[in-house]
Amino acid sequence: MTKNSGAGATRRGFLKAGLAAGGALAAGRTASAATSDPAITEIQPWNSESGDPVDFAPYGKPSEYESEAIRRSVPWLTADPISSINFTPLHKLDGTITPNGLCFERHHAGAAHVDPSKHRLMINGLVDKPLVFTMEDLMRFPRENYIYFLECAANSGMEWRGAQLNGCQFTHGMIHNVMYTGVPLRLLLEEAGVKTNGKWLLAEGADASAMTRSIPIEKAMDDCLVAFKMNGEALRVEQGYPLRLVVPGWEGNMWIKWLRRFEVGDQPWQQREETSKYTDLLEDGKARRFTWVMDAKSVITSPSPQAPITHGKGPTIVTGIAWSGRGTVPRVDVTIDGGKNWYKARMAGPSMDKAMHRFYFEFDWDGRPLLLQSRAHDSTGYVQPTKDELRKFRGVNSIYHNNGIQTWYVNEKGEAENVEIS
Ligand code: MTE
Ligand code: CO
Repeated sequence: MTKNSGAGATRRGFLKAGLAAGGALAAGRTASAATSDPAITEIQPWNSESGDPVDFAPYGKPSEYESEAIRRSVPWLTADPISSINFTPLHKLDGTITPNGLCFERHHAGAAHVDPSKHRLMINGLVDKPLVFTMEDLMRFPRENYIYFLECAANSGMEWRGAQLNGCQFTHGMIHNVMYTGVPLRLLLEEAGVKTNGKWLLAEGADASAMTRSIPIEKAMDDCLVAFKMNGEALRVEQGYPLRLVVPGWEGNMWIKWLRRFEVGDQPWQQREETSKYTDLLEDGKARRFTWVMDAKSVITSPSPQAPITHGKGPTIVTGIAWSGRGTVPRVDVTIDGGKNWYKARMAGPSMDKAMHRFYFEFDWDGRPLLLQSRAHDSTGYVQPTKDELRKFRGVNSIYHNNGIQTWYVNEKGEAENVEIS
């Protein structure tokens, strides 16, 4: 073994030998035998010099070797970066929690920098007692903690007419999964006293877009939160600091950021975001509206176009995420041959209502091309459809609510590409 062929070559050689001799997968996965690998024979700088002192970074950052784990945008998607979107780097993440700095952003008028001391939340309309809360007032209500996914209804919206964007970051990255700390919206509405004809709630943001959405009062009273913390720390500016609405399982557009007002009414307001936007145009010219719930969906995050197989054949790990706005995802199936054979993936990590789930499928890659797909089954029994099944009743005029099965083609070199098969 020469020096610079290093551990990789050793590992491959070892693997081949192990498998040829009928070795189990486990043999391939063990570390390579001791070699003259410079990574172990030579003293490294971090081994011989002191490291950074404490307080070097009063707010910690990821390692400099992880600079590829960043949000990315697709500049041609939107006319300008103020009303725009970027994407969570799903291919770089594992587990289920999205780190705060990597949560995708969707702003209609940029990310507002709101001074919490000047921020107020108003409840007016069909209530016994209109109220205005300061941030301090809100902190005196009992809080709860829940982990929920937020998916923009436009996630995968570019894929209706065929495979388009090359990477799960871009096809599926309008999602994040965060632990929220907040006050149940029910408690605030009870404080104001909703009148008996109060059937709808308008939520409004304090940003320059003053985003507004109508929400049925049953949902508002059920599991919505007025949140001020994400993953334990204050909301990030991009995510609506100091206050955002959490609408579990429902489309991201309703999760009003920089939340400043609730109006109680007796009918929906028919705002821009629930008429010209966030409706689903069908082939016959009619449109579905108020399609709030995000149906079950999944995607393989690795291997994927931005996360090719680099280790050659042998033991290979397929992993991905699954979620449903209707409950949990107890089962995900994976195929490596475009649906000829399906295998049950291994679910690993917490399984919570309306939260992201993580799955794994370990197999021995023979080096031949793969067609990778995943298929989520949610706790209601609903099974994620193929793209063709979805198009049968939705057509191709939609932007929103595309939860069809994603396919990655992996070639002999391990490079992956977004494709469609029928
Ligand atoms: N709230 C306000 N006030 N302004 C906005 O532009 N965008 C909405 C929603 N809430 C928006 C908003 C949309 S379309 C989505 S998908 C989510 O916020 C995105 O949340 P995120 O930026 O935390 O990912
Ligand atoms: Co959105």
